[in-house]
Amino acid sequence: MNWQMAARAQKMNPSVIREILKVTEKPGIISFAGGLPSPKTFPIAAFAEACAKVLREDGQAALQYAASEGFAPLREMVADMLPWQVDPAQVLITTGSQQGLDLVAKILIDAGSRVLVETPTYLGALQAFTPMEPDIISVACDDEGADLADLTGKASGARFFYVLPNFQNPTGRTMSEARRAALSDQAACLGLPIVEDNPYGDLWFDTPPPLPLTARNPDGCVYLGSFSKVLAPGLRLGFLVAPKALYPKLLQAKQAADLHSPGFNQRMVAEVMKDGFLAHHVPTIRALYKSQRDAMLVALAREMPEDVHWNKPAGGMFLWARLPEGMRAVELLPRAVEKNVAFVPGAAFYADQADERSLRLSFVTASVQQINTGVAALAAAIRESRPSRASPAQEQDERNAATVGAK
Ligand SMILES: Cc1ncc(COP(=O)(O)O)c(C=O)c1O
Repeated sequence: MNWQMAARAQKMNPSVIREILKVTEKPGIISFAGGLPSPKTFPIAAFAEACAKVLREDGQAALQYAASEGFAPLREMVADMLPWQVDPAQVLITTGSQQGLDLVAKILIDAGSRVLVETPTYLGALQAFTPMEPDIISVACDDEGADLADLTGKASGARFFYVLPNFQNPTGRTMSEARRAALSDQAACLGLPIVEDNPYGDLWFDTPPPLPLTARNPDGCVYLGSFSKVLAPGLRLGFLVAPKALYPKLLQAKQAADLHSPGFNQRMVAEVMKDGFLAHHVPTIRALYKSQRDAMLVALAREMPEDVHWNKPAGGMFLWARLPEGMRAVELLPRAVEKNVAFVPGAAFYADQADERSLRLSFVTASVQQINTGVAALAAAIRESRPSRASPAQEQDERNAATVGAK
């Protein structure tokens, strides 16, 4: 049979992370690689109860086809929990926020369209956008978020700027209040639409992050949210909030994709959430992840060579590290796996020029004991793989010899 692939299929790539996750299935591997929430946080008992209740009281509707927009009480709950005025009619329940990215790509990107992303950015977004054949342009970023001068220079004709202001995947960084205000003003001034992805915003450790960009300019933004990190990813439920001008097309794209997200799961989530469940459940996730982050920071400070650097994320699941000069994270990975520890090389998260020295470490799925063992193993792998360097004493001897020679 002569199967001929569409041009868009040729552009699809396997997710590097999923490939690495296969390696991490090897028994005994300590994985800092996956973006998986800690299964300890899944509220299984609450779901068991909600599941029985939904089937008992609303079983026929729960198992029937349903509206593409989503289960009305859940859309209302989503509108109520967001920190700006949201009409439930603007909420579309999606099959994970990953589907939100896919729908946005389908309705906003033509082949050759300019799409702006942060440097680095979420790999799954690059995967969702790429089949639409855009010209993906990276906007330079610092610790506070996007560099606005660079953004302005690249914004002309762009369909949108994809932004992750809170505890970004992969870097864990958070956009400051000042940068949000300036970006929001700048985007409005340029007429540049924003796609704001916020699956980690509730997972702050000390103080909540500043208001979303969408709260500042709802008509200029599509906002994507998720139940994956506050309840469970296996539900495959997320949502988007879209301006009225976009909503009908997103809905049509959703209908073509899957008719609707599972009605049974939507009812279970609404049942679990209805009496303010998240208000006491989410703080338990924050406390767990904060203690895991702290354990990783302590282990890194204890184990790593001086010229390895990392940041201190204020929430979320990831920490971003940088290897010494001359090292590449992709080359380190097999050495680390030999020592039973895995991570994701940062290069996977760049739309263009990658920082080969960067790597992403998840601190939420490994136990504190595994974090200690894994970080020590990673530090050992770095020491063994680094380009051979003379000892400080040898270096001093060489410098002395050179000085003598020069005289
Ligand atoms: C930044 C970002 N956006 C979207 C998603 C997709 O989440 P989900 O489809 O589970 O809601 C993820 C998952 O890790 C993510 O990190």
